[in-house]
Amino acid sequence: MSCSSCHLPELNFTDGKAFSKGIDGLNGTRSSMSLINIGFVQAGLFWDGRAKTLEDQALFPVEDQIELHNTWPNVINKLKRHVVYPKMFREAFGINDRSEITKELAAKAIAQFERTLVSKDSKFDRIQAGKESYSDLELLGYGLFFDDDPDLPDTECGHCHNIPMTSSDDFFNNGLSEAATLDDFKDLGRGKITGSKSDNGKFRAPTLRNIKYSAPYMHDGRFATIDDVIAHYKSGAKSSPTKDPLLHKLDIEDHHIQALKAFIDTFTDTLFYKNPEFKNPFK
Ligand code: HEC
Ligand code: HEC
Repeated sequence: MSCSSCHLPELNFTDGKAFSKGIDGLNGTRSSMSLINIGFVQAGLFWDGRAKTLEDQALFPVEDQIELHNTWPNVINKLKRHVVYPKMFREAFGINDRSEITKELAAKAIAQFERTLVSKDSKFDRIQAGKESYSDLELLGYGLFFDDDPDLPDTECGHCHNIPMTSSDDFFNNGLSEAATLDDFKDLGRGKITGSKSDNGKFRAPTLRNIKYSAPYMHDGRFATIDDVIAHYKSGAKSSPTKDPLLHKLDIEDHHIQALKAFIDTFTDTLFYKNPEFKNPFK
């Protein structure tokens, strides 16, 4: 297995599963995340933000019991004996000898590759740049998404998924789970990291770029389609002590839903999705 076993370019760098399976066939407890525009995330990586930088993050999966279930000394030995990598490490880092390959250098290399995963050519971006314009349906969706039109119902989406990243890079409880008390969440999310109970049940609002390829949705992959996601928000979400005050029953009808979906689809970047630079170089 490799990183790309669970982060496939054609699935927006996710694996299309609710819970990712690791090397021993065991299920993890969360859904794989998209790596699109990952270099711009400041709040911390993972659904709960527990890794500060991409370099820190890249060290986790190798030794994670469920994911790659290996050890870094073992992986470094394999890299040192590899037919291609020692030369590439010498060229990238100016080291003299394969014995100088370390897990820190491996993490730096992975992180630097991840920083190239930039999407900036969706229809949405081209419209921002004044090169294209919205269809009527997309424009209606824009107004709904950003609460931009006093005559339309507020959906609040744009507060947590704001531009240009389509993520506010912050943690919220978007009402996925019913909880009577602060201790009642199955997955504490951000609260487990900060130790503050008022963060229990909060997760990072992820990017919606190329979202149509990242199903199923949410940290536990509970929703199979964007329609399911919108139905969740329309219902006003489930109650719990940390549920975000922005969430309320949405007064939207079918044509509003079609418009929201059409607008969200303008975040699709087919150039990014098909970029040969992001495909396996050894195939
Ligand atoms: C077995 C599947 C699996 C493998 C293998 C795997 N990942 Fe992940 N990845 C996940 C899951 C699941 C999450 C979310 C975990 C969480 O939030 O607790 C994740 C999250 C991430 C994130 C955070 C994204 C964000 O928006 O915060 C990055 C970056 C990442 N992985 C990179 C990697 C790299 C680099 C490798 C290889 C060294 C790797 N992954 C290997 C499943 C996997
Ligand atoms: C209060 C902040 C907030 C609001 C308002 C909000 N979201 Fe979210 N959104 C989140 C958070 C947080 C998550 C991740 C939750 C999780 O997995 O635990 C999320 C996840 C999603 C996902 C799944 C992303 C993925 O990679 O799985 C989609 C799609 C989405 N939101 C769309 C919308 C739409 C459409 C609206 C408006 C109808 C909206 N959101 C309103 C905070 C918000």
